[in-house]
Formats: sequence, structure tokens, C-alpha cells
Amino acid sequence: MEIRFATAADFGALRRLDYRVAPDHLSDKIGRREIIVAFEDDVVGWLRFGLFWDSIPFMNLLFLLDEFRGKRIGTRLVGFWESEMKKRGFQRVMTSTQSNETAQHFYRKLGYTEIGGMKLPEEPFELFFLKKIGE
Ligand SMILES: CC(C)(COP(=O)(O)OP(=O)(O)OC[C@H]1O[C@@H](n2cnc3c(N)ncnc32)[C@H](O)[C@@H]1OP(=O)(O)O)[C@@H](O)C(=O)NCCC(=O)NCCS
Repeated sequence: MEIRFATAADFGALRRLDYRVAPDHLSDKIGRREIIVAFEDDVVGWLRFGLFWDSIPFMNLLFLLDEFRGKRIGTRLVGFWESEMKKRGFQRVMTSTQSNETAQHFYRKLGYTEIGGMKLPEEPFELFFLKKIGE
């Protein structure tokens, strides 16, 4: 299993899988190295991020295809991301998840701390998490 930044060659697979993101935007994010993929013959999982307040890396989406879950690939994707963010000089990272999703326990296991939340109309409560990755 290879963990690496997505390249233009992954655009087709990501466009099919990450269909909520407009194609132009997806292409821009690949170019800016804001998508990390788990690759085994094809994309089997991906992590997409941006900058909260234009200053704190924020993981917008982490997703593994069903049959690739529970094999530490999620841990590796997040580890790769955190280490790259550290190299870019960031000292903390953030993410969020809906309060009714079990993925919150995954983030807690990886050292993320709950820092609050928000409630959008018609949506479950969204929990926000922070992790310190440097001094
Ligand atoms: C959540 C997800 C990214 C986790 O990746 P993964 O590769 O399956 O997780 P890992 O194998 O690295 O698990 C690491 C630890 O977290 C725990 N964990 C993983 N997913 C969990 C879940 N949904 N609920 C509770 N614990 C979970 C594992 O049991 C493991 O614990 P351990 O260290 O005590 O053994 C993956 O299952 C997934 O894509 N799920 C569907 C999409 C999703 O929920 N995305 C996140 C929403 S914001």
C-alpha cells in the first residue's frame, strides 16, 4: 500500500470517488498537494484538506473504501498528513466529524482532542477536533 500525494494521474479515480467536489476545484487541490491517497492498483482511500482561517491545516475528508477499513490505512494517511504539515511549519491541525459517527473514536485514538462544535440546520451536531503536532 502506497501513501502519497495525489497526482494528475489520480484525477479520474478521485473525480469518481470524491464526487461532491467540483472537478476544477479537485484539479486545483491536486496541484496544490492538498489530497493524499492510499494507492494499491488504484485509489482505495484519500484524505483531502485545506486551511482553516487560512492558517491551520483542516482535514475536510478522510475515506477508505469498505474492504480497506480496519487495516491501519487510515492511521497511515493521517500520520503522513501530520508529518507533511509539520514539515510545512504548522504546529497544530484540525478536523471535524458528525457527533453521531463512530469515526470520532478513531480521531480520539490518534490523539485528537474535542474542542467544541456547531449545529447546521437539518444536520447532526458537528464535533471539532484539534491536535498539536509541534512546539
Ligand atoms: C474512519 C476510517 C478513516 C478509519 O480508518 P481505518 O484504517 O479503518 O482505521 P485504523 O485501522 O487505522 O484504526 C485505528 C484505530 O482506530 C479505531 N477505529 C477505526 N475506526 C473506528 C470507528 N469507526 N469507531 C471506533 N474506532 C475506530 C480502530 O479500532 C483502531 O483502534 P486500536 O488502535 O485500538 O486498534 C475508515 O474506517 C473509514 O474510511 N470509514 C468511513 C468513512 C469515515 O467515517 N470517515 C471519517 C468521517 S469524518
